[in-house]
Amino acid sequence: MQFQNIKEKILIIDFGSQVTKLIARRVRDFGVFSEVITPKEFKKIRYFKTIKGIILSGGPSSVNNMNFESLPKYIFSLKIPILGICYGLQLISKLLGGKIKSSYKKREFGRAFIFKEKESLLTKNFFRSKNCVWMSHQDAVIKLPKNFKNIAFTKDSRLTIIENTKEKIYGVQFHPEVTHTDNGNQIFKNFLFKICKIKSKWNIANQKITLTQNIKKIVGNNKVICALSGGVDSSVVALLVNKAIKKNLICIMVDTGLMRKNEFKYTYKIFKKKYKLNLKLINASNIFLKKLKNISNPELKRKIIGNLFIKVFEKEARKIKNVKFLAQGTLYPDVIESRSSTGSKSSKIKSHHNVGGLPKKMNLKLIEPLRELFKDEVRSLGKSLGLVESICYRHPFPGPGLGIRIIGNITPEKVKILQEADYIFINELNKTKLYNKIWQAYASLLSVKTVGVMGDTRTYEYTCLLRAVTSEDGMTADYFSFPKEFLDNISNKIINKVKGINRVVYDISSKPPSTIELE
Ligand code: XMP
Repeated sequence: MQFQNIKEKILIIDFGSQVTKLIARRVRDFGVFSEVITPKEFKKIRYFKTIKGIILSGGPSSVNNMNFESLPKYIFSLKIPILGICYGLQLISKLLGGKIKSSYKKREFGRAFIFKEKESLLTKNFFRSKNCVWMSHQDAVIKLPKNFKNIAFTKDSRLTIIENTKEKIYGVQFHPEVTHTDNGNQIFKNFLFKICKIKSKWNIANQKITLTQNIKKIVGNNKVICALSGGVDSSVVALLVNKAIKKNLICIMVDTGLMRKNEFKYTYKIFKKKYKLNLKLINASNIFLKKLKNISNPELKRKIIGNLFIKVFEKEARKIKNVKFLAQGTLYPDVIESRSSTGSKSSKIKSHHNVGGLPKKMNLKLIEPLRELFKDEVRSLGKSLGLVESICYRHPFPGPGLGIRIIGNITPEKVKILQEADYIFINELNKTKLYNKIWQAYASLLSVKTVGVMGDTRTYEYTCLLRAVTSEDGMTADYFSFPKEFLDNISNKIINKVKGINRVVYDISSKPPSTIELE
């Protein structure tokens, strides 16, 4: 851990659930520092004083398997409150003498109604007239461990919330960390403040000095390079590292030709003029567009853009002498995912492009000052570093840029058309003050051409698809409900102002089953 003066924290032991990072988020949303570790890492801990509570995550394993993922029993004699979620509850029950059964008939996946049996500190203000909780289990506790009582049940699981009040050990079979659980946050709130009695608040802005001191200590007088895209993560990394080591940071900006309108120029101006960063600009748009000619397969596009980016960056970086470090904007969700206790990774839907492959080839040491932070914390840090709002609160933008927002093959003409349409869309969102209500919005260009009529003339042009979603972390998303007047206005504006587009459609799909980007 790179932070200092953390007097109170919550430890989350990850058993490989897809949603462990949401537990860490929920806890941090309450201003409490949380750290996710594996069961193996837990066994190495010798100092428990700052740990005020432990949460055991869900996971794909079964406690009835021979080599089930487990924890040393001394966890129960540390006198630290424990909350087990799903597999976590089953593990607590197993280790303390309860019985768990796998039942195909009684399995619960998705929503279930929960009913109160007894009062509990954990469920204070949690129950409403009808509470829905999110379930995802086949195993269930069928016999409680000694000194435990049952707090709530569903139709198919009799022991849905259990507790040993004296020892402060709690378990819930459902997932309170998932938004589909009604009022799930109340469970965390009660656990943190009523049971663990957490008092201090965690605030990333207070850690700014520690973060810069750490960078100074690691880097010394060596040089650091950083790929600056103008997205919030790389921008915050650049400002932070620059604060720590000033002129020894060299930022490389690669223009792929696939950025949004004016974006490259704007980012350059801000970082050069306002923040006085040591910047190197590479205009590689011709190489990118040439390599992408006639390529319409999304995965192939992603690979070409990703590999070419590394090549261009590498070539430029080699020209700078004595570079020892590469600074990268890796965030906590990626860290949690890549070191899950089971090592299991969710199946690949899209190959994401970032500069993660660089150091292996270039023999550079990595510095990742954001690797313990969530996106909103990165934004707070950016704000405290004086990062301009237009970058700090900018919607996420994928590494392959407009390359995956032009469906089908990419041509310079299509890039220009899309840049114009996207510019109008985003400007309208800002003007109508909707931009900050939306998690991500963009325009994309479909490769279908359709017939239209302008004046008395027949047109045969491209279709522009607008996408705007609300989301918490990009894992799931809902389409944003625009007022009809906004849609009328934006369709009119884009068709009238952008030559090459004669039809505008709005994407009303959620994720899942769709994804946020189209390719
Ligand atoms: P999907 O399309 O998978 O996108 O629902 C989820 C979030 O990830 C962003 N995204 C990417 N970000 N490199 C990135 O840095 C990529 O290759 C990439 N592909 C998708 C997407 O914009 C959304 O915010």
